[in-house]
Amino acid sequence: MNATDRTVRTVLLGITGGIAAYKAVELASLLTKSGLAVDVVMTANACRFVTPRLLREVTGRPVYHDMWQDIGSWHTEHIGLAKRAKLVMVAPATANVIAKAAHGVADDLLSTVLLATGAPVIFAPAMNTNMYNHPATQENLRILAGRGCRIIPPDSGRLACGDSGVGRLPAPECLAAEICRLIADGEATAGVLAGRRVLVTAGGTREPIDPVRFIGNRSSGKMGVAIAECCRTQGAEVVLIAGRGVEVRPGCCHRTVVVETAAEMRDAVLANLAMTDAVVMAAAVADYRPVAVCRQKIKKQAGEITLTLIKNPDILEEISRWPAGRPVVVGFAAETENVLENGMDKLRRKNLDMIVINDVSQPGCGFDSDENQVVICRADGTAITLSRRAKILIAKEVIKHLAHIVAARQKEAGNG
Ligand code: CTP
Repeated sequence: MNATDRTVRTVLLGITGGIAAYKAVELASLLTKSGLAVDVVMTANACRFVTPRLLREVTGRPVYHDMWQDIGSWHTEHIGLAKRAKLVMVAPATANVIAKAAHGVADDLLSTVLLATGAPVIFAPAMNTNMYNHPATQENLRILAGRGCRIIPPDSGRLACGDSGVGRLPAPECLAAEICRLIADGEATAGVLAGRRVLVTAGGTREPIDPVRFIGNRSSGKMGVAIAECCRTQGAEVVLIAGRGVEVRPGCCHRTVVVETAAEMRDAVLANLAMTDAVVMAAAVADYRPVAVCRQKIKKQAGEITLTLIKNPDILEEISRWPAGRPVVVGFAAETENVLENGMDKLRRKNLDMIVINDVSQPGCGFDSDENQVVICRADGTAITLSRRAKILIAKEVIKHLAHIVAARQKEAGNG
């Protein structure tokens, strides 16, 4: 098997210096047995845990660990490796390689290949729990996820350092299965939303009053993030527009735009609307904003003060009235009374394809909680009541109906 053999699908396995490097040997073996050509690139520290010779025996191919290694046929090996890879997985991915990749540092062969490749990149982090949970590592993972890298979260359990917690590299079989699935189907062809582009909003907007205060709401963005994650799992290209403070899980979408106010959210939605098949407005958008934002902090006064508010644009209504070729539009309704009636009224008034109505007066449901109970109403009159359950399960149901409507729309347009 050589580098110019185009009938063989090549994956690049980057191994970095963590104790879990031993599991990467098994992973390389499983991938090789499944018929893939595996180019292994090891960092210097990875070579302290497992030897290039072992990986060479397992894959039957040269193993790369040094920028200046003389392997005979290639002059610019990092470019050759980067180009022929159909997919790249870094497993285990240490906090160091994650930080380097997030910030474009290219000081060894693996980090250079990561900059040079155009192939999908998957990181499988494995490290001590505190290192994984450190804001720097989480921020770096968010940066990578925001660029479209896929992150396979570590498992929990007993770690090599003796601690127990999150940080274990998932079993090689799971990592191999993920690679084989992506290679076989092609990321863009798997799932009920394969090849579709979906825009999701999440969280609450903040309308500034003065430099230190704002009008906000209780939305955590968990429902929107769950929707984004499900769309991505179902093969869609996902853009997430999130209010400030929303915890955007690494890998839940391809791109994240963080916004503060309703006006910023509207601008971000409109800027990303082209070629979008569906918009899911799970965000809690402020209906009003202060007429004027004070430039200085408002000082305490003896009597009452009055804040005058003006109406914000209704983003959902604006998209659903989009003149030609508008995307499928899904709204959310947060209600505290006459829940179904008010929700249905919003569906009609805002000209939506579907609305997810939730009763936010129920304790433990809706705003800032992990569970929800909703009624999904479609413009064709279908109404499905979902009893209380985890938001990710609600999201799965919503996506099932969304995919159905998107497919029907494409069929109507004659290009499904
Ligand atoms: N929405 C929007 N733009 C706004 C207000 C709301 O796009 N300025 C969207 C929300 O993202 C949600 C839907 O409209 O998908 C319904 O939001 P909700 O707050 O329940 O309803 P409102 O239209 O604001 O009406 P009301 O507050 O009177 O219930």
